[in-house]
Amino acid sequence: MDDANTLIPVNPAIENYMQKLLEKTGHPVLLEMEKLASLSSFPIVGRLIGAFLETQAKMVNAKRVFEFGSGYGYSAYWFARAVGEGGRVICSDSNPINCERAEKYLSDADLWKRLDFRVGKAQDVFMQTDGLFDICYNDVDKGDYPEVWQLARQRIRSGGLYIADNALWHGRVAMENFTETALGSTEAIVEHNRQVFNDPEFDAFINPTRDGVIIARKK
Ligand SMILES: C[S@@+](CC[C@H](N)C(=O)[O-])C[C@H]1O[C@@H](n2cnc3c(N)ncnc32)[C@H](O)[C@@H]1O
Repeated sequence: MDDANTLIPVNPAIENYMQKLLEKTGHPVLLEMEKLASLSSFPIVGRLIGAFLETQAKMVNAKRVFEFGSGYGYSAYWFARAVGEGGRVICSDSNPINCERAEKYLSDADLWKRLDFRVGKAQDVFMQTDGLFDICYNDVDKGDYPEVWQLARQRIRSGGLYIADNALWHGRVAMENFTETALGSTEAIVEHNRQVFNDPEFDAFINPTRDGVIIARKK
């Protein structure tokens, strides 16, 4: 990516240091999942954000999580650890191959039984569920972010969390002139962040680690 089109919020040496602290955290299957991401340039959240998701989920005692855009289950691995026995992570992804891969990896980690992985458009899968969630996590195509926020905000319990990855979008949200890489992604994320921070029912913050994670707690 063009450097002129990117701002790095946290110094890479600091992220490496933080990453090293987490080297021994988690199941060995994580290494396989990370290797596949690296070989196929698949955008998993990575360990820093994975551990962040797990700690946030434990802090609100999450037992029911919905993931919009689960890929092959890397972020779901961290949520599944957090919800514990009897907890549930409803995953959604449009690509059936991701579901097959998630089943293999999460079974190896003995966490598959905590997942309910559904193939389809995440917004449609969400509409087929009912009740409130402790956490709604958004990691779909960036142009869909405002729509997903509007769906999710109504279905988070009081004290629960909305979390979305890529809230800083390589810093482009903070640049006056940027070259768009995917149609309308930056504008969509800027609008999404504006809506989350202006919602009187939520308290919001962006953790600038990696590509920025927005986290908003429902009052
Ligand atoms: C950034 S990756 C998710 C990575 C995953 N959260 C992780 O960290 O392991 C985005 C995934 O969402 C899927 N996706 C994107 N937009 C979607 C949508 N609207 N509905 C369902 N799946 C979608 C893509 O197929 C891709 O696997």
